[in-house]
Amino acid sequence: MFIDSFKCAFVCIYVCECIGWKERYVALITGAASSIGECIARHFCKHGAKVIIADIQHQLAHSVCQDIGPAVAHPVYCDVSNESHVENAVNVAVSKFGTLDIMINNAAIADPNKPNIVDNNVADFERGLSVNLTGVFLGTKHAARVMIPNKKGSIISVGSVSSSVGGVASHAYTSAKHGIIGLTKNVAAELGPYGIRVNCLSPYFIATPLALNFFKLENGGQSGVYSNLKKVALQQEDVAEAAIYLGSDESKYMSGHNLALDGGFTTINPAFGLFSRSKLD
Ligand SMILES: NC(=O)c1ccc[n+]([C@@H]2O[C@H](COP(=O)([O-])OP(=O)(O)OC[C@H]3O[C@@H](n4cnc5c(N)ncnc54)[C@H](O)[C@@H]3O)[C@@H](O)[C@H]2O)c1
Repeated sequence: MFIDSFKCAFVCIYVCECIGWKERYVALITGAASSIGECIARHFCKHGAKVIIADIQHQLAHSVCQDIGPAVAHPVYCDVSNESHVENAVNVAVSKFGTLDIMINNAAIADPNKPNIVDNNVADFERGLSVNLTGVFLGTKHAARVMIPNKKGSIISVGSVSSSVGGVASHAYTSAKHGIIGLTKNVAAELGPYGIRVNCLSPYFIATPLALNFFKLENGGQSGVYSNLKKVALQQEDVAEAAIYLGSDESKYMSGHNLALDGGFTTINPAFGLFSRSKLD
């Protein structure tokens, strides 16, 4: 029994040391009852963190926490577009686990995909912005409230390839995801003097309910067709690994940055065809 606990503690310390996690971080992750957010939460706990899982799917958040372990994962009902919910989620992190080191603004929704702007209605557009942009603002604001007195912290907002290019998602989603980049840069400028880092993490397509519903696909679809990097597909775990990096001291001089996890999709324009793919086929 004693030997088992000793081995477990040793493995935990070893894993934390390997990635520069020298302390037990406390992280709040929005939209973490499922998909990418859940994967980040599980990954963080594997690396010794304690997490608050903030989501509107409360039952699911509860079961995920039970599965991870209630001592290190705690669910909070939170609609990120509602300021009092977000304020409460941050307060629960502090009362339950003592502090807040890492805030991950991950929750987002996809509004109906209507290709003609004339058919887009204001209610859908504003709902998209309220969750996908105002939600990030509220998460950032209330995380900062706790982090400023502590003079440390890492705020990570999940963007998208739609944070940098147009033509791959709805007007509301693209506007919100571009807005996240602006907010990230502005808040990084304000919070840098307190030692708080603010970054964005922008993945390419991953087959989650959000992406499958938006593109009306039944499984992984044909996402690989449009990706630049071949022979490899982006997984939720890759996003979680990048979040671990941005949350840890390994990225201690990184702030105001948009870390694209897109295999070059947003930096390369293949339309010119200079490096024709046909020779590789
Ligand atoms: N899946 C992709 O292809 C992809 C690509 C780029 C970026 N992203 C981004 O990754 C993040 C996670 O997306 P996903 O694909 O895992 O989505 P998902 O729809 O599969 O999961 C989203 C989670 O957020 C929760 N949620 C939704 N609205 C909420 C609200 N108002 N308040 C709190 N929680 C709410 C949901 O209950 C769910 O648990 C989002 O920011 C999304 O924009 C996804």
